Amino acid sequence: VTGTLAHPFAERWNHNAHYYPRLAAAVPADAGVVLDIGCGDGTLARYLARPGRMVLGLDPDGPSPASTPAPGVHLAVGTAEELPCADSSVDAVTMVMVLHHTDALRALAEIRRVLRPGGTALVLGYGRSDGPRDAAYELRDLLWHRRLSRRTVAWEPGVAVADPAGTWAEARALLRSELPGGTYRRLPLWRYLYTWRRPR
Ligand SMILES: C[S@@+](CC[C@H](N)C(=O)[O-])C[C@H]1O[C@@H](n2cnc3c(N)ncnc32)[C@H](O)[C@@H]1O
Repeated sequence: VTGTLAHPFAERWNHNAHYYPRLAAAVPADAGVVLDIGCGDGTLARYLARPGRMVLGLDPDGPSPASTPAPGVHLAVGTAEELPCADSSVDAVTMVMVLHHTDALRALAEIRRVLRPGGTALVLGYGRSDGPRDAAYELRDLLWHRRLSRRTVAWEPGVAVADPAGTWAEARALLRSELPGGTYRRLPLWRYLYTWRRPR
């Protein structure tokens, strides 16, 4: 490591935390109820906390011993397929590297159900490489990783990880069919971001 990374998570940087500032900026400022599905140790849930906002972080593994409490943040046991939230009760949903762990059709149906009309869903995930187009993106991913990891050490939060079952194209097609009208972006560092607003 030869320098310092100018990033709020420089000390706990990894390919997910890299995108937390981008996700936080994409959650509407007036979102009063935010749900982080598959929250792991709750790092993102805490980062999304704001005065006047309630952030609920759910994970089947529940809050880890490393999870520190924060005002307005509740970490609980729960799964993406059965969200403990009323219909149309959530202003924004974040789900980071979780979709490939879930029964995706059920998880995405739950997001449609709990988001209020006009609410925002942000799904960050990845896919399996398939073909030359993915290879080109993955070369970019590797170059970004090399450049950034010269300035920090990747952090392993010790949460469950799994290989993606589907390709990048399959993940995109699934999201477009289950959360129609959203925006898919392939991002550096082996990630996509799908942004969806529930129609009013
Ligand atoms: C790769 S980790 C990502 C953790 C965190 N979102 C982050 O940004 O680092 C995947 C998380 O998904 C959780 N998970 C696994 N199956 C799940 C399910 N069915 N519903 C919700 N979360 C699940 C795991 O317990 C784990 O914390």
